[in-house]
Amino acid sequence: MSQPSNSQVVLLTGCSSGFGLLTAARLAAQGYTVVATMRDLRKEGNLTSEVNRRGGAVEVLQMDVTDKQSVTRAVERIKMGHGRIDVLVNNAGYGIGGFFEDLTDEEIRAQMETNFFGVQNVTRAVIPLMRQSSRGKIINISSVAGFSTSPAFSAYNASKWALEAFSESLRYELQFFGIDVLLIEPGTYKTKIFYENAQYAQNFDNPQSPYFVWSQHLRKKVMTYVNDCHKDPEEIGVMVEKLIRAKNPPFRNIPDIESQVLSWLRRVLPFWVYSAMIRMFFMEGFSRPRSVPADHIPIRSERNSSIPSQVR
Ligand SMILES: NC(=O)c1ccc[n+]([C@@H]2O[C@H](COP(=O)([O-])OP(=O)(O)OC[C@H]3O[C@@H](n4cnc5c(N)ncnc54)[C@H](OP(=O)(O)O)[C@@H]3O)[C@@H](O)[C@H]2O)c1
Repeated sequence: MSQPSNSQVVLLTGCSSGFGLLTAARLAAQGYTVVATMRDLRKEGNLTSEVNRRGGAVEVLQMDVTDKQSVTRAVERIKMGHGRIDVLVNNAGYGIGGFFEDLTDEEIRAQMETNFFGVQNVTRAVIPLMRQSSRGKIINISSVAGFSTSPAFSAYNASKWALEAFSESLRYELQFFGIDVLLIEPGTYKTKIFYENAQYAQNFDNPQSPYFVWSQHLRKKVMTYVNDCHKDPEEIGVMVEKLIRAKNPPFRNIPDIESQVLSWLRRVLPFWVYSAMIRMFFMEGFSRPRSVPADHIPIRSERNSSIPSQVR
């Protein structure tokens, strides 16, 4: 494939797997100047073999979005090497499963650190370069979880809703500088986020938790759904490329039909109908959790021997 002579410089986060890896490889094959970042360079092999398979080239840099120093270092390297960044794709993220009472403060804060503050760290470092050239696109990978919630995902939901509000507000702030802020809201795609990279609340598997039976049921339900999911994660790369090429792209962009329908239902249905639908999908067949003494909280993990005696 012929390489455009003046290819745009695209910086992506979280390229060791999933959407980030596929999007980086896709854009590289199309001749973009791709700077693919990942927090652990030992994972570079999967990306480079995909790039070799498709053709093109990527520059791989280390970046942990929660580590401001690594963010600054990578952006400085790009500034020295290319002098500009035309497109930023904030993709790095993970999801922690677990009911609110099973999650620790630290787990919720860590979720926000990556999915929300991580995006801000990278965006803050990149905006000055975009302002300098009076152009740029910031594409934030949100989720269907950014407009529709579900039980046992409150931390992830909150991080993506925060990302949505931040993106919408930032869009107004940056429009006068010629910088566009866009969202992609994918539904479920079978990537490592549900397998190797899946995270669960400290007390998710604690039989002493009042949510234990629900947690186990929900994990099974979600994983059955994910295992049956045959959508191609490349669709996110296709959408990113479309947004880069578009003159006036829409702010919110949903790649899969399922989530497009969900988004439409969310807008047109009264909330009580919509939430009954969500409750039915996730909690069908479940009644009130077994009663436990109100003072059982906080629950300790099995590793901690100080489980209050009344809940043992
Ligand atoms: N798959 C879905 O169904 C789905 C749906 C909606 C939205 N999303 C969103 O899409 C994005 C990509 O997810 P994915 O499905 O492609 O999952 P994935 O395969 O697990 O990829 C996640 C990527 O984020 C990286 N990452 C996590 N924390 C990071 C940090 N602190 N600094 C830098 N990189 C970090 C991971 O790196 P390591 O390898 O080092 O962990 C990995 O490269 C996420 O923001 C996710 O919330 C996914």
